[in-house]
Amino acid sequence: MAPMELNLVVILGSIRDGRIGKKVAEYLKKRLDGFNVDFMDPDVLELPLLRKPIHFYEEQSEAPQLLQDLHERIKKADAYVVITPEYNRNISPVLTNFMDHFPPSSYNGKVSGIVSYSVSAHGGSIAGYSCRGFLVELGCLPVPASVTVAAAHELGEKNAWFDKDIGIMLSQLRWWGSATKSQRAISQCPRTM
Ligand SMILES: Cc1cc2nc3c(=O)[nH]c(=O)nc-3n(C[C@H](O)[C@H](O)[C@H](O)COP(=O)(O)O)c2cc1C
Repeated sequence: MAPMELNLVVILGSIRDGRIGKKVAEYLKKRLDGFNVDFMDPDVLELPLLRKPIHFYEEQSEAPQLLQDLHERIKKADAYVVITPEYNRNISPVLTNFMDHFPPSSYNGKVSGIVSYSVSAHGGSIAGYSCRGFLVELGCLPVPASVTVAAAHELGEKNAWFDKDIGIMLSQLRWWGSATKSQRAISQCPRTM
């Protein structure tokens, strides 16, 4: 059977001047063959700090056009990959600010993969783990395998260790992404609220 076509939204969680995240994102992007990739870079998209999520508008058609367009792209995704730096042992506020603009119902019944990174030896693994709770709350459940990029500032063109981790995470995203896509076509995934 031919593999199911999956739309993958990748969100980069850093807009910091001189960010390393861009390098991590470029590395990952080269390894996403087989997915329809929609890359979201908050630095380019320039969503403001959260004042009004799109689902807080009485009519979503009254929301700024940028928010409406991004919401369509978020809804279209079958799976998400989030790339987060570790800031003070936590997820990047850029990532939560971006994703909080959209309702959990748009992420619900889908899956996600986490890439964390830092300049230290543990590769932002603490942030990576706290990211799990955040994604569960949104309803896009993280797959078991994740990627931690240690010493991200030294990331070169090819790293066998990360390639292996990325491969495992993507294979799980494909499996769960296909399963949840099929199931969403049959019935709506029950929401928490
Ligand atoms: C506010 C702030 C907090 C940080 N906290 C951590 C941390 O908790 N753990 C860690 O390993 N590195 C930490 N770092 C170092 C980051 O790993 C490093 O700056 C990295 O480049 C951040 O990603 P970015 O360049 O894409 O923003 C912190 C950096 C900043 C700016």
